[in-house]
Amino acid sequence: TSGHLRHVESMAQLPSGAGRISHLNAVVLGESLASEEHDLVFPSPEFSSQALLSSPEHGFWSEIAKEFYWKKGWGDGPIVEQNLDVRKGTVKIEWFKGATTNICYNALDRIIGRGDGNKIALYWEGNEPGHDAKLTYNELLEKVCQLANYLKDIGVKKGDAVVIYLPMLMELPIAMLACARIGAVHSVVFAGFSAESLAQRILDCRPKVIITCNAVRRGPKVIHLKDISDAALLECVNNGVSVGVCLTYENQSAMKKEATKWVEGRDIWWQDVTPKYPTTCAVEWVDAEDSLFLLYTSGSTGKPKGVLHTTGGYMVYTATTFKYAFDYKPSDIYWCTADCGWITGHSYVTYGPFLNGASVLVFEGAPNYPDAGRCWDIVDKYKVTLFYTAPTLVRSLMREKTEYVTRASRKSLRVLGSVGEPINPSAWRWFFNVVGDSRCPISDTWWQTETGGFMITPLPGAWPQKPGSATFPFFGVQPVIVDEKGNEIGGECSGYLCIKSSWPGAFRTLYGDHERYETTYFKPFPGYYFTGDGCSRDGDGYHWLTGRVDDVINVSGHRIGTAEVESALVSHPQCAEAAVGIYAFVTLIDGVPYSQELRQSLVLAVRSQIGAFAAPDKIHWAPGLPKTRSGKIMRRILRKIASRQLDELGDISTLADPSVVDQLIALTDS
Ligand code: WTA
Repeated sequence: TSGHLRHVESMAQLPSGAGRISHLNAVVLGESLASEEHDLVFPSPEFSSQALLSSPEHGFWSEIAKEFYWKKGWGDGPIVEQNLDVRKGTVKIEWFKGATTNICYNALDRIIGRGDGNKIALYWEGNEPGHDAKLTYNELLEKVCQLANYLKDIGVKKGDAVVIYLPMLMELPIAMLACARIGAVHSVVFAGFSAESLAQRILDCRPKVIITCNAVRRGPKVIHLKDISDAALLECVNNGVSVGVCLTYENQSAMKKEATKWVEGRDIWWQDVTPKYPTTCAVEWVDAEDSLFLLYTSGSTGKPKGVLHTTGGYMVYTATTFKYAFDYKPSDIYWCTADCGWITGHSYVTYGPFLNGASVLVFEGAPNYPDAGRCWDIVDKYKVTLFYTAPTLVRSLMREKTEYVTRASRKSLRVLGSVGEPINPSAWRWFFNVVGDSRCPISDTWWQTETGGFMITPLPGAWPQKPGSATFPFFGVQPVIVDEKGNEIGGECSGYLCIKSSWPGAFRTLYGDHERYETTYFKPFPGYYFTGDGCSRDGDGYHWLTGRVDDVINVSGHRIGTAEVESALVSHPQCAEAAVGIYAFVTLIDGVPYSQELRQSLVLAVRSQIGAFAAPDKIHWAPGLPKTRSGKIMRRILRKIASRQLDELGDISTLADPSVVDQLIALTDS
C-alpha cells in the first residue's frame, strides 16, 4: 500500500490544527477501522485525489494562485520543489517554477482591468499637516510606466539591480513597481542608514542606477539624502565600483533644486526626465522563480545579508496573508506605518495591498510631530480602517496623555496590527482598549524579512485572542518548537522556533552566498528552517514569541546585529573591544582615560557607520568583559549588570576572570 503511505506523508504536512495534535496516531480510512478515541483519521487517497484541497502544496496554493494573472501557467506537475534538509543536499525552494507572470501587472493592470482604475491606490500625507496628495490606480500605473520606460532607456534590463534610497514619498512604491515591471531587481535601502551602510549595500549588489531624493523632512529635522548618497557613491568609487546614474527626486518641501550639490554626467533630476516618457510600458514577463528584490538585513555576525525574494510565490503569499490577517474588504483604507526600507514596507505597504486593489496611506513624517496625536488625527482625516504598526510606536504613544488619542474619534478603525517584536500585554491592552475602543481585534503578526509574509498571525474574525500572543500559524505554515538537540517538542513547551516544509513567500537564498544561507538557517537544526527566535506554546496551542536567541537585537523595531554595532565601535581608534546590547560595554586601549567626549565620539562612530537609529543609549566603561575560558562573551551577565539585577548574576565561576564582574559593577554610574 505504498499509495497510502505516500498519502500519509503528504497529509502529515498539514498546517496548524494538525501540528497541535501531532502526538496522535495516524490512521488511513479504509486501511484500518477508526477505533481509538484519539486517532487521526485521514481521507482515502481516492477521496483526496478528487478533493478541492488535498495538501497545502498541491491543492490550496494552486487554487489561490489562479486568482492572479499568469502569462504561462505551471502545468500539471507539482507546484513546489523543495529540499530543506541540508543532509540530503543543497537547500532549494521553488514555487510555480516554469510559470511566467509579472507582479506589477498583477498589482496595477489587473486591478484596473477589473474596473478599479479610478479607485485611490495611494493617499500620501506629508510631514506637515495639510500637505497631502493622492493617486488613483490609473494614475499610479502611468507614473510607474514613465519611470519604467526611463530605466529601460538608460539600459536597465531584466535581472539588473537598482538601489532605491528614498524616504516615504509616493515615489518609493512607484520606483519599486517600475523595477518589477521591467524585471529589474530592486534593493531598497532604508533612508535612515548612513553613507557607509549604503555603500556596503551598493558594493554588494552593484546596481546600474541609484534612485534617491535631495532631502526629506521628518518632524522638525531635514535629512540631506543626496549628500549621503554622494558620500556613499564616492566610497564605492574608491572601492572600484561606479554607479552610472543617480536619479534624484526633487523633494521641494524639504530642499530647493538650486541648493542641491550636483555631479554633472551622473546626476539626473527625476522630474526632468520621467514626464517625457510614454505613460504605458510593455510588461517584462518573468519566471515565477526570477528575482524580484534584494533586501539587506542584519545577522548575528559579519556584514548584512542580502535576502533574495523571487516573484511568483512571494506574490501569491503576500496578497493572501494581507487579505486574511487584516480581514481586508474593498472599502478599507489601510495604513501601515512601516517604512518601505524594511520588509514590512515591501510586503505590506507595496505588494500585498496593491495586489488586493487596496487604498493605501503612506505617511512621510514622524508619529509625534507636530504632537503625539498625529497618528490618530491621520486616522480620522482618511477614515483609516486597518492600522498596522509596531509595539515600539504603541509604547511611545502610550506614555503620552490619553487626550491625544481621545481627541480623535477613531470610529473608522476596524482591525489593528502589530509587528516587529513581541507586544507586551500592557501595550496590547492599551492599543486594544484605548486606541481601538475595545472593538478592534489586534493582528499580532509574527514573521521576518526571510519569510516574506506573515507566518504566525491571528485571523481576526476567527478565533479568540490572548494579549501578547501571535496565536496560530497561517494556512500551510508548519511551525515546530525544538529543543537544543533539534528534537521537536509537543504540547505545552518552550524552545527554538523552526519551520518545517516551505511556504510560497520564503526567501530563496542570500545573494551571492548560498553557503551562508544554509549555514545560518538550515544547519543549526537539520531538516528545518531555523528562525533565530525563541517561542513557547501554551496549553491551548497559542504561540508566544520570546525574542531572538542569537545576537540580533531590536532597536525601536529596527533589526540590527550586535556585531554591526560592535564593529562600528571597534573601528574607533581608541577602542579595543566592545559588546553591545545597545547598552554598550566598551573596553578602551590600555591607558586611555574615560571621558564624556570619548563617549560621544564612540556614539558618533555608530551613527555614521550604521545610522542614527542604532546609536547606543548608554556606554558603560569596561576594564574587561566577562568571558568564558574559550573566549566567548557571557552576554547574560552583561544584561544583568545593565539592568541592575545584581542578585541574579547566576554562576560566574566559569568565567576566565570572575573579578571583571566586580569591576564592571563598580563602574556602573561613572
Ligand atoms: C521579531 C520584521 C514577536 C522576531 C517583519 C523576528 C516579532 C524579527 C514579531 C524579524 C511579532 C517580528 N512578535 N516578535 N509579532 N514580528 N518579530 O526581519 O524576533 O525586521 O525574528 O522582520 O522580528 O525582524 P525583521
